Amino acid sequence: MADKKFEDIIVSGARPTGNLHLGNYIGAVQQFVKMQDLYKKCFFFIADIHSLTTHPNPADLEENAKTVLVEYLASGLDPDKITIYRQSDLHETSMLYLFLNMHAYKGELERTTSFKEKARTQPDNINAGLLTYPVLMASDILIHKGTKVPVGKDQEQHLEMARTFAKRFNHIYKQDILPEPEAFNTLGKLIKVPGLGGSGKMSKSDEESTAIYLKDSPKELEKKIMRAVTDTGPTQLNQKKPEAVDNLFSLMKHVSSPDTIAYFEEKYNDMTIRYGDLKKQLAADMVVFLSPVREKIEAIRTNDEYLKKVLKEGTEKATESAANTMREVRSAMGFRH
Ligand code: ADP
Ligand code: TRP
Repeated sequence: MADKKFEDIIVSGARPTGNLHLGNYIGAVQQFVKMQDLYKKCFFFIADIHSLTTHPNPADLEENAKTVLVEYLASGLDPDKITIYRQSDLHETSMLYLFLNMHAYKGELERTTSFKEKARTQPDNINAGLLTYPVLMASDILIHKGTKVPVGKDQEQHLEMARTFAKRFNHIYKQDILPEPEAFNTLGKLIKVPGLGGSGKMSKSDEESTAIYLKDSPKELEKKIMRAVTDTGPTQLNQKKPEAVDNLFSLMKHVSSPDTIAYFEEKYNDMTIRYGDLKKQLAADMVVFLSPVREKIEAIRTNDEYLKKVLKEGTEKATESAANTMREVRSAMGFRH
């Protein structure tokens, strides 16, 4: 392998709230896989503490984290090239979160889009963990002095807040300790993969049938895609596509060849398109695209010894990096003992 070139420190994670879907894969995990060969220091973790905001069943917690770990590895993350760990195993993150909370203000936290959205959708559980979610996320990144954070478009505001907290800390303690991280995608723009339900981004909290999971069998993929929402078809030449149809073309861009896409674009524009054909092609290309990952998921899932070893070594490497940051943070804040 060629020498890794870049000095930026890469940090990213996903909440273990279900199986990874195509949005997680294209918006985040595929990026991680590319970056592991380019950057000297990459930290990818499973944000199990973040998942506590929605009170998961304790009996499921370990299994949920294992699901993400297995799917990260099956997607091509290589523990020899990067550091991979569970957020709850790196205690320094929780310590930094506690410290940063002293300089995070109720007003700015309440204005966060993700908080407002959660407060609206789960009015019976607007807990302090939800309010301070961006502080914990900033701590995940800043604990390793992360500078580039591969995430999907939905995380942009959280990154902006991480920059605010880093800047504020440096300013208050008059030292340049925490860098200002930015959301990043190797393609130069952040990505939003749509779902199959006709509108919105693909999400783990969608109905099962509108998200495409990495673990889905070819049969499941075909069934879901054939049922995707469309409309009755174009009624004018070169008509603008409605969102649901545009979404199918967007999905195609990630898995089909340029020739295939051009073929269906032409059919749409001259009004001869049959959505059934488009979906059949999309399903076939999706199966080819995801099969290698699905097969690896099945192989890795049963290898508990390997998974344990990956987490143990990852925790050790992450702890070393985090301890260095915490020494500086504690000292800046006056904890010199
Ligand atoms: P979800 O929103 O489905 O619960 P997470 O919040 O765990 O997924 O997201 C994990 C990562 O995947 C984040 O970097 C997030 O930006 C990215 N991501 C999630 N959904 C999408 C999507 N539809 N398109 C692009 N990236 C996405
Ligand atoms: N908030 C992210 C999400 O919902 C997950 C996450 C937690 C994260 N901590 C992070 C992503 C740190 C990048 C860096 O997708």
